Amino acid sequence: MCMGSSTRSMLLLLLILSPISIYAQEVQDEREFDYEKGSGKGPEQWGKLHKEWSACNNGKMQSPIDLSNKRVDVVRTSKKLLRNYKPCTAIIINRGHDIEVYWEGDAGSIEINGTTYALKQAHWHSPSEHTINSKRYSLELHLVHKSIDPTSKHQIAVIGVLYKIGKPNPFLSKLGQNITSLVNQENKHRHPGVIDPREIHMSCRRYYSYIGSLTVPPCTEGVIWTISKKVRTVSLDQVKLLRDAVQDHAEKNARPLQPDHKRGIRLFGP
Ligand SMILES: *[C@@H]1O[C@H](CO)[C@@H](O)[C@H](O)[C@H]1NC(C)=O
Ligand SMILES: *[C@@H]1O[C@H](CO)[C@@H](O)[C@H](O)[C@H]1NC(C)=O
Repeated sequence: MCMGSSTRSMLLLLLILSPISIYAQEVQDEREFDYEKGSGKGPEQWGKLHKEWSACNNGKMQSPIDLSNKRVDVVRTSKKLLRNYKPCTAIIINRGHDIEVYWEGDAGSIEINGTTYALKQAHWHSPSEHTINSKRYSLELHLVHKSIDPTSKHQIAVIGVLYKIGKPNPFLSKLGQNITSLVNQENKHRHPGVIDPREIHMSCRRYYSYIGSLTVPPCTEGVIWTISKKVRTVSLDQVKLLRDAVQDHAEKNARPLQPDHKRGIRLFGP
């Protein structure tokens, strides 16, 4: 059960956000694809592996992209990104190519343009998927949210946070033992425990915004991307643990950059 939520809103959320709906969005069993060029199921092939994954190859709004100074429209604003997270029971899942924190109930939400997006899960990619002025960072965290209004135009909103090597990341330090226990334990869940998403530090003052897609199959489009501009730090050991924990010990789980097709990219901030 989650803290600070009334039973009524809890029930409503459970109805709208049953795990099935989120499982339909990102592939949970990731053995069906990989990140290796020439493996037959690498990023260039994703769109051909399943009919439902065709957007991976044919889409015109795919992610990730380079967030280049030359391409962004700067929007001066003092409005911060609105986050209203709360602690909630979560499980940690080894999906084969990444480690995922999946909140089982109401972990709070963000608000974008008047629409509320409930936090569902978090996972990591290394190296980073998005680049800033062609610079690739060591790690990228994705916080995946789903609209609580099933009729809203954009159903998924993802926040990305980039990390370079430096001081350990406190959130990952706290989960270190749990992740260690998942090494090579594909899909074995740890017992649920309360995870507080407010412990994921990020700057909400300056952020990029554009419309893209999920970066794993089915590469669903219409995703509102928000990438915090401030690059934070993570230790080399923490990045290594996230890599070692997953099934293939692959060196990376970052999808290559996708064409931006002249999409608008905005940089909000003071
Ligand atoms: C918010 O809505 C306005 C008006 O519909 C639109 O122009 C803008 O692109 C939207 N912003 C985001 C981040 O979706
Ligand atoms: C993490 O590990 C601790 C200690 O074993 C356990 O109590 C907690 O439930 C675990 N949390 C998750 C989310 O698996």
